[in-house]
Amino acid sequence: TLTRRGLFVGGAVAAGSLAAAGGHLAGRGGGPETPAPNGLPEREPFHGVHQAGVSTYPQAHAVFLGLELRPGTDREALGRLMRLLTDDARRLTEGRAGLADAQPELAAIPARLTVTFGFGPGLFTAAKLEHERPLTALPAFRTDRLEDRWTGGDLLVQLRCEDSVTLTHALRLIAKDARAFATVKWTQRGFRRPESSQEVGQTQRNLMGQLDGTVQPTDLDRAVWISSGPEWLRGGTLVALRRIQMNLEKWDEADEAAKEFAIGRKITDGAPLTGRKEHDEPDFQAADRFGLPVIDAAAHIRLARVDDPAQRMLRHGYNYDDGLSDDGVVESGLLFAAYQADLARQFIPVQRRLAEADLLNLWTTTIGSAVFALPPGCGPDGWMGETLLA
Ligand code: HEM
Repeated sequence: TLTRRGLFVGGAVAAGSLAAAGGHLAGRGGGPETPAPNGLPEREPFHGVHQAGVSTYPQAHAVFLGLELRPGTDREALGRLMRLLTDDARRLTEGRAGLADAQPELAAIPARLTVTFGFGPGLFTAAKLEHERPLTALPAFRTDRLEDRWTGGDLLVQLRCEDSVTLTHALRLIAKDARAFATVKWTQRGFRRPESSQEVGQTQRNLMGQLDGTVQPTDLDRAVWISSGPEWLRGGTLVALRRIQMNLEKWDEADEAAKEFAIGRKITDGAPLTGRKEHDEPDFQAADRFGLPVIDAAAHIRLARVDDPAQRMLRHGYNYDDGLSDDGVVESGLLFAAYQADLARQFIPVQRRLAEADLLNLWTTTIGSAVFALPPGCGPDGWMGETLLA
């Protein structure tokens, strides 16, 4: 071990003063019930019937970590891994350092950190629990151009936080603790506007400039949380995570009317082409003076529409940005994360319709895909995944 003494004999930093600084920072602010001036708490509660990070108001930064289990990581080892990671997550979300945290000071500002775990299809094989498996990889869709480096995964750790320093620290600790059990398949980072830029509750714009996230389920107990099927998954949910590349250079060439035609909503305020305000109901029957539908047959919102609010998925998009090519072209898009009780009834039929005809496909390409079952939440003495793995 490299010690301070080994570096500077008689150096000025006493080990105790670091611990004191950590303790002082950890005491900053009140509990989760103390609202920040703008309405969001400083900490998101970790314990509960459901895991945090699904219905939680989306934080500004996200990282999705897709792990692949090492050979020999069986049910018993998975139990050890999930106890360990639950302990990390519990501490970090409360603003406390992890047990083996080499830099505890970085844990002191939780900034609404949530850590959410999901089990991919392969985990059930590794644990010899195939009979409990609630999902398989998605079917292939016509427009998919999936790259292995963004696809699949046995275990998901989804971290979301208002502060990217806290987030990066949490990711490092969790990845380190998972190392003996799993290798990294992918990490996908995304961002949204922070609450300092845009009022909480207002629909955000994606990188194409559209207001994205207007229509959401009204009743999460029916649309998102699982209440039937395998006992272990009650209170949990399923997520489809898709990495969707945007060809923004091509999008720049379209005029505003073409952009609005493709979606079926206005760019300026997100109102349906048949309405005046963002939350007006679209009128899919409305025709123009030539008798043509105002919202085109291939418009995104027509094809994505699900009439029964109980069948809607909860969509939380995060923008991604992979930087610029040598000639200044952005490599960016959307991390599309949709939470729902039933993939076969919710995500899959919508994605099928979109793959067949959606006008948006002119500008977007899905290059990554993964699905996970998110077990229910746990109590102060429990751990995530205990209902399956204990
Ligand atoms: C609605 C953009 C991919 C499902 C919308 C809206 C926009 C949008 C601007 C209208 C506002 C709203 O209600 O949120 C995009 C972009 C995508 C994308 C830019 C890709 C880069 C997808 C995918 C799915 C999907 C992959 C599901 C398979 C939906 C649904 C709605 C919607 C269900 C609400 C439709 C309604 O009932 O009105 N999307 N979307 N979207 N999108 Fe997407």
